[in-house]
Amino acid sequence: MSKILIAPSILSADFANLGRDIQALDAAGADWMHIDVMDGHFVPNISFGAAIMGSIRDYTDKPFDVHLMISPVDDYIEAFAKAGANYITVHAEATTHLDRTIQLIKSFGVKAGVALNPTTPVSALEYLMDEIELILVMSINPGFGGQKFMPAQLAKMSQIRKMIGERNIRLEVDGGVNAETAKLCIEAGADVLVAGTAVFKGGNQKLAENIATLRG
Ligand code: DX5
Ligand code: ZN
Repeated sequence: MSKILIAPSILSADFANLGRDIQALDAAGADWMHIDVMDGHFVPNISFGAAIMGSIRDYTDKPFDVHLMISPVDDYIEAFAKAGANYITVHAEATTHLDRTIQLIKSFGVKAGVALNPTTPVSALEYLMDEIELILVMSINPGFGGQKFMPAQLAKMSQIRKMIGERNIRLEVDGGVNAETAKLCIEAGADVLVAGTAVFKGGNQKLAENIATLRG
């Protein structure tokens, strides 16, 4: 399996100092920057849009891993692609024609990912396995940081790891990932760990230590 990547969620950063915090994450060894976009409709919270993401793009060379919690989503893909997304992940539940949405992401030269809510079965991925480069398993109900990890999602990760087989697809987990649950996720086959609370715990001087702990 490929190297474990840590993708801190900037949802837990200081929004008044996003550029500074992105630089701090970069220096602390973050592999990807996880960008959580919430619309107040698909999820019961609002975060920020493509303009804010674009304004922090130049603060790091690390990949921007954009998690769109937006429905309907198609009208916003171009803006995030142009604002510097490397991966764009959409929810299977958030779009009627998921394949069309995936093709739209790829048309901008951006890598495409699909996220599954905790109750969405893996069968939602079956006809997409040769089209996508990232699968995101939500281990909480999306919308807020700081929630408790759902252990039932570990079986889903193992099942998806088997489905991936030799394909070049990253398996990412998002929600309630901390030192303990990170280990379980890695055992279940995840190779990208998103974490907000566990990365920013203790302030910016702790980022490097927190990231190293998650990596195990
Ligand atoms: C929630 C987001 C997550 C979340 C992770 O909808 O997708 O990225 O902020 O935060 P923690 O690590 O605090 O669960
Ligand atoms: Zn996320």
